[in-house]
Amino acid sequence: MTRSIDCVVCGSCVVDLLCRPVSLTEPIGRGVLHHVEPIMIVGGGITSNSGVTLARLGLKTAILSYVGNDAWAPVIRNLYRGEGIDDSPLLTHPTGATSSTVVTIEATGERSFFHCVGAPKLLDAKAFLDRLDLFARTRVMLLGYYSLMPNLENDLPDVFAKIRKAGCQTAMDSAGSGGGMSPLDRILPHLDYWVPSFSEAKHQTGLDDPRRIIKAYRACGAPGLLGVKLGSKGVLLSPKADEYVEIPVVPAPGPVVDTTGAGDSFYAGLLGGLLKGLPLEKAGRLGAAAGACCVTAWGGSTGGRDYAFSAKLAGI
Ligand SMILES: Nc1ncnc2c1ncn2[C@@H]1O[C@H](COP(=O)(O)OP(=O)(O)OP(=O)(O)O)[C@@H](O)[C@H]1O
Ligand SMILES: [Mg+2]
Repeated sequence: MTRSIDCVVCGSCVVDLLCRPVSLTEPIGRGVLHHVEPIMIVGGGITSNSGVTLARLGLKTAILSYVGNDAWAPVIRNLYRGEGIDDSPLLTHPTGATSSTVVTIEATGERSFFHCVGAPKLLDAKAFLDRLDLFARTRVMLLGYYSLMPNLENDLPDVFAKIRKAGCQTAMDSAGSGGGMSPLDRILPHLDYWVPSFSEAKHQTGLDDPRRIIKAYRACGAPGLLGVKLGSKGVLLSPKADEYVEIPVVPAPGPVVDTTGAGDSFYAGLLGGLLKGLPLEKAGRLGAAAGACCVTAWGGSTGGRDYAFSAKLAGI
């Protein structure tokens, strides 16, 4: 079977409306008109943040999630199509709304969020098992976010096992609190890639040493590439038991305006680099460069750059 898709990004798919400047300490007041900068519409969630980054790096990318039968659905579809992303696996849910967020941003960059979780939270095993033909055409799938998919998580061991049986690698990211070790302990044996952020990994394992965190995942039978995203300290990766690769932060190629989506962009750069055949350390550096590009633009999906720029920034 020819694998015509490099990566299907699955799960959280959000329309973000960015509104600034908004004071987050003064009351908004009733019936008051506030003048703001042009309100921006950007894609949010892992499907946008990782999906757009992968597409801009030159990888053939598709999105699997739900949107609602509402006015936001064509907005997010057009965003994806404009990036050359295949939105045909993005399905319209009969009752759920398109996930949307109003992000209010202070002049300092501090943000508050008004969020409608919407249809992506309704993703269940059937949404994936009905599309095993898609995964049979795909090299790797990335799903987010663990701890925020209540209808799916208990079935993920079976879903990932079947996706891998179709010859597609599996990757997952977490968000929110990060959740706990159950059902993660049952999911880990079926993951090829698992690189959560430090705060999420600490919440899951109760540990605060990145190497011990990775050992805890290995103890569950995790066979793949593990890691922990460490923010300003970079990322610790582990390709196999007791082997570690430290990926340093790459300086941002401009002023840092918004760190939303840095983790998702890192993941996209890492997977994109590996899909392009780079050795692990270079792929990790490409991930760090993708994270560094992300933070120079508003929202989590607008700062991504092409492969030539990102590779030069990464020094690879
Ligand atoms: N201000 C920054 N400048 C340069 N690189 C950055 C910056 N912030 C993040 N990165 C890069 O992105 C990587 C991932 O960021 P981080 O560890 O914050 O992920 P995360 O916690 O998953 O983030 P997110 O809030 O997007 O979920 C970092 O390890 C780093 O390489
Ligand atoms: Mg993250």
